Amino acid sequence: MKALIIFGSTTSNTATAAEKISTSLNNKNIETKLLNATEVISQDDFANFDLILFGSSTWGLGELQDDWFNINFLKDLNLDRKYIAFFGTGDQHGFSDTFIDALGILYNDVKDSGATLVGKWSTANYEFDDSVALLDDTNFVGLALDEENQAELTDERIEQWTNQIIQEIK
Ligand SMILES: Cc1cc2nc3c(=O)[nH]c(=O)nc-3n(C[C@H](O)[C@H](O)[C@H](O)COP(=O)(O)O)c2cc1C
Repeated sequence: MKALIIFGSTTSNTATAAEKISTSLNNKNIETKLLNATEVISQDDFANFDLILFGSSTWGLGELQDDWFNINFLKDLNLDRKYIAFFGTGDQHGFSDTFIDALGILYNDVKDSGATLVGKWSTANYEFDDSVALLDDTNFVGLALDEENQAELTDERIEQWTNQIIQEIK
């Protein structure tokens, strides 16, 4: 099992989370490769991986982080027989109507790629009004991290999430 972690990050919060997720997966015997979204060139970059993790912070009012605009073929990706997961950082109090919207934007771009979604995440321990990243009434499409308001929960959330992903891909 090999995982590719692609992330976009402006002030390094999502980059740090991506590194922690990578270490956590390595500790569970999953080989990882980390790429900033600006380093992704073509569909070939995805070829040798079973699991693709997409990570982004949200900027503006519910916009994808800038690094992701480098990849103009997201909607055309063929990720048949692969697993996909999403993670990101946002500010649930400062941006309560657009909390982690970027995860939902990425999910909508690749949900028809043939891949299987893993790592959906409960909304139970967050306070926000709305999010494009809602998969249903009680789940985000992926891991929501909030360095502004809940930084102390990040490490245990990452650990729980990587454990969950490993259970789901067995
Ligand atoms: C100008 C600005 C706009 C933001 N917009 C949103 C937003 O719409 N939704 C959200 O959840 N977080 C928003 N945030 C919070 C960032 O996503 C958060 O600080 C994140 O941790 C930054 O991660 P990065 O350093 O990886 O880019 C915004 C922050 C700033 C400064």
